[in-house]
Amino acid sequence: MALLDQRALPLEDRWLECRNWHEVAEAIRNMTVRGAPAIGIAAAYGLVLAKEDFEAAAEGLAASRPTAVNLFHAINQMVNAHAAGRDLEQEAVSIEAKEAEMSARIGAFGADLVPQNATILTICNTGSLATAGIGTALGIIRTAYGQGKVKHVYACETRPRLQGLRLTAYELMKDGIPFSVIPDSAAASLFQRGAVDFVVAGADRIAANGDTANKIGTCMLAMLAHQMGVPMIIAAPSSTFDTSLATGAEIPIEEREESEITTIEGQRIAPLGCPVWNPAFDVTPGELLHAIVTERGVHRPPFNWGDH
Ligand code: MRU
Repeated sequence: MALLDQRALPLEDRWLECRNWHEVAEAIRNMTVRGAPAIGIAAAYGLVLAKEDFEAAAEGLAASRPTAVNLFHAINQMVNAHAAGRDLEQEAVSIEAKEAEMSARIGAFGADLVPQNATILTICNTGSLATAGIGTALGIIRTAYGQGKVKHVYACETRPRLQGLRLTAYELMKDGIPFSVIPDSAAASLFQRGAVDFVVAGADRIAANGDTANKIGTCMLAMLAHQMGVPMIIAAPSSTFDTSLATGAEIPIEEREESEITTIEGQRIAPLGCPVWNPAFDVTPGELLHAIVTERGVHRPPFNWGDH
């Protein structure tokens, strides 16, 4: 299978050929492919490549990244298909097709919440690169733009991997949607100027009470939106829900290597030995959210998806 190498975008369209599940697991770990739905889909195709080592492959792929639950849902679905003797490639194709369909529905439901002439703030990349279709948060932006409701999009650059600057900017430009990238630290200034009408972000795992793990910095936007009375929306398909967890406190948060902070494009910036904390995600409390939009519709707080 071939993966578009998201580490090389937007400057280079480089494709990485994965010949076995080990290479797919490494591509997920090193973020050649990233975004919660996309890593679930990639893992599903990785399992198509597994042969007699199917169980080891399922375990190995599950160990690639810890936070996005889509990965584990997709692997479980493939494990069940394998046990039932179903065709694995068809199963992976159907996981991908379902993700695309869910994105389209999220876009339609979410666009109804976007006010006329809106200035929208978003973070990370939640578009086609991160999903199988139009995207989740970016799918809402795309759909609302198509309806003539979007004046401008502000995309947080999303330190340290710069998914906003590199990937969201690339997708917005391709679509001709007017936007500016801001440093993450400019978000409060933007709110203070009254320049944000609507905030929308994706999710990597949503607990039963609506607590949402998403890219580091999302909780900061939710706190700002709450303080300033601006609606903050999370957009995610049902494959992002983990209703076995009562609250977000139980969501495992990935901590990535120090070099993502201490170096830029391979060039060391920090003093040698500089200590670093590099969590890849944070958890936004469900009560800070105006709504969670799924393929089933618009859900309002208080959220309660479990039997907790
Ligand atoms: O570390 P990443 O780039 O995989 O993180 C991605 C995000 O946080 C996205 O917002 C999330 O996966 C939703 S993608 C539709």
